[in-house]
Order: sequence, then structure tokens, then C-alpha cells
Amino acid sequence: MRDRLWYGVFLCGLAPFLWLVFLVVSDGLGANPIERITHFTGDWQLNLLLTTLAMTPLRRLTRKNVFIRFRRMLGLFAFFYVCLHFSTWLVLDQFFDWDDIVRDIAKRPFITVGFTAFLLLIPMAVTSTKKMVQRLGPYWRKLHSCIYVIGTLGIIHYLWLVKADKLVPIIYGSIFVLLLVLRLPVPQWLKDLPPLLPQTGNQPG
Ligand code: HEM
Repeated sequence: MRDRLWYGVFLCGLAPFLWLVFLVVSDGLGANPIERITHFTGDWQLNLLLTTLAMTPLRRLTRKNVFIRFRRMLGLFAFFYVCLHFSTWLVLDQFFDWDDIVRDIAKRPFITVGFTAFLLLIPMAVTSTKKMVQRLGPYWRKLHSCIYVIGTLGIIHYLWLVKADKLVPIIYGSIFVLLLVLRLPVPQWLKDLPPLLPQTGNQPG
């Protein structure tokens, strides 16, 4: 169901793209526009990938199913930004020079890793429809657990491309690990612990 919240989340996903279009038409990309677009789309691809991964832990922590409604949309936005990111590299950076493209993918490890992540994202985006969920059955879940590999490759890509200060990719990596930990099943001993806060509701006496 498409309500106001749905449109709000959709606009949030689209806003970085609209901002990028504004920067392009207003000549606001600075001295190196190609680098700026590559970094901007790379950042937003990673932001949206992590936001998509945050939906399940958020549902777990809040017990509100609303987060799951937006998981697919956010994942598709992540794919949209990686397509822009890849196209910028392919068209504006490499000018469709296929020899150079193949050499870049084979020889620069951070490009190899980013490219692998991009390839893995394609079947996930293609099979994200309700029809495909039904058609693939249990295989759908297996295929979509590729998201963990993609996230790992995305972080490695970022860590390898940054030469000096690695703080930002390390922060992204830490958030990614935290999101994975929050997905692990809660062990029984933790479930058995007494509540930290006094229980509310009707107390006897
Ligand atoms: C899941 C896939 C990917 C993710 C998460 C990702 C993410 C990123 C991030 C976060 C940055 C740095 C942005 C910044 O410094 O602010 C970046 C830069 C870059 N990415 Fe990707 N990327 C992915 C795939 C790709 C692919 C497929 C290519 C090309 C084949 C690519 C080529 C580049 C290039 C050329 C840069 C700039 C490197 C530099 O400044 O020296 N990326 N990417």
C-alpha cells in the first residue's frame, strides 16, 4: 500500500539523485566533476546498502513490521546508485575504452572487488519482485543472502581505494559488522536474563 510514509521514504531515496542533478545543471560539481560524481554515487550506494541492511534489526528491536515494507525499495535505490556509479566510471572515466576497462578490472584490486559486488547485485535486483519471491521459493532467500558478501566487498572496495586516512571506510565497516551482529539469533541465556527495567502493567497488591 502506497501511503504518505511510502512516498516520504521514496523521496528520501531519490533526494541524493535530485541533488546531483541540481549540482550538474548549476555547474556546482567543482574542479573535478567526474571524481565528484563517482564519490557521491559511491557514498550513496553504500549508505543505502547499509540502510537496507538496517531494516531487519530495526524490526527486531522495535517489533514494528513497518521497516520491512521499505527494505525492497531501499535495496533497489542502492542498486540505482551503483548503476550510476558504474556508468560514471564506464562512460565518463573510461570513455568505453574496452581494453582499458578490462585492464582496470583485472589490475586494480579495488575495481575488481567493486565490479564483483556490482555483478552480484544484478540478480538480486532482477529477482526482487513478489513474483520472483514466489517462483524461487527457498532459493530466493539463499540468493538474497549475497547481500552480506556484497556489503563486505563494498567495504573492502572503499578501504582499498582510500590511500591515506582510512577512518571513514572503517566507520562504515564497523556499522556493517554491527548490523550483521544484530541479525544473529538471540542466545537462550540472553533471553533468560531478568529485564533491566521494572515491568510496567498491573502489579499484584
Ligand atoms: C557495491 C558496489 C560498490 C560500492 C559499495 C562502492 C562504493 C564506493 C565508495 C564509497 C567510494 C568512495 C567515495 C568517497 O571517497 O567519498 C567509491 C569510489 C570509487 N568507486 Fe566504487 N563502489 C562500488 C562499485 C564500484 C564499481 C562496480 C566500480 C567500477 C567498476 C567502482 C569504481 C569506483 C571508483 C573509480 C572510485 C573512485 C576511486 C578514487 O577516487 O580513486 N565502484 N566507491
